[in-house]
Amino acid sequence: MPGQPLGKVIGNSGQDRDRVCVLATDDGQHVALLDRCPHRDIALSGGVVKNGTLVCPGHFWRFDLRTGARTDLPERGATVYPTRVVDGWVEALLPPPSPQLPMREWLLGEARKAHRTEAP
Ligand code: FES
Repeated sequence: MPGQPLGKVIGNSGQDRDRVCVLATDDGQHVALLDRCPHRDIALSGGVVKNGTLVCPGHFWRFDLRTGARTDLPERGATVYPTRVVDGWVEALLPPPSPQLPMREWLLGEARKAHRTEAP
């Protein structure tokens, strides 16, 4: 239905990428987004579509449906995926799942990143 976002879990990687929000705009275009607000872990599919924007139900940030950019702070945007319609189905091009890292590898990687940002 136009203006009513639909949230779906479409994968089993256990990562955020599995959560997709799909909606149809007033002009019949289909938009697919990562179903997670860039502010907090709130599903954008619970939001409201108004005048070409999706309003997050968390703290009411507004995202442009064409680009995902936050309307008042474009560098904090939602993730929009390319879509196409095939035989009445909306297909979205999602990124592949990230490789699973053992906890030790992940912690070491995070420590390296933190060390690089602290170095002069
Ligand atoms: S959780 Fe979306 S604006 Fe805060």
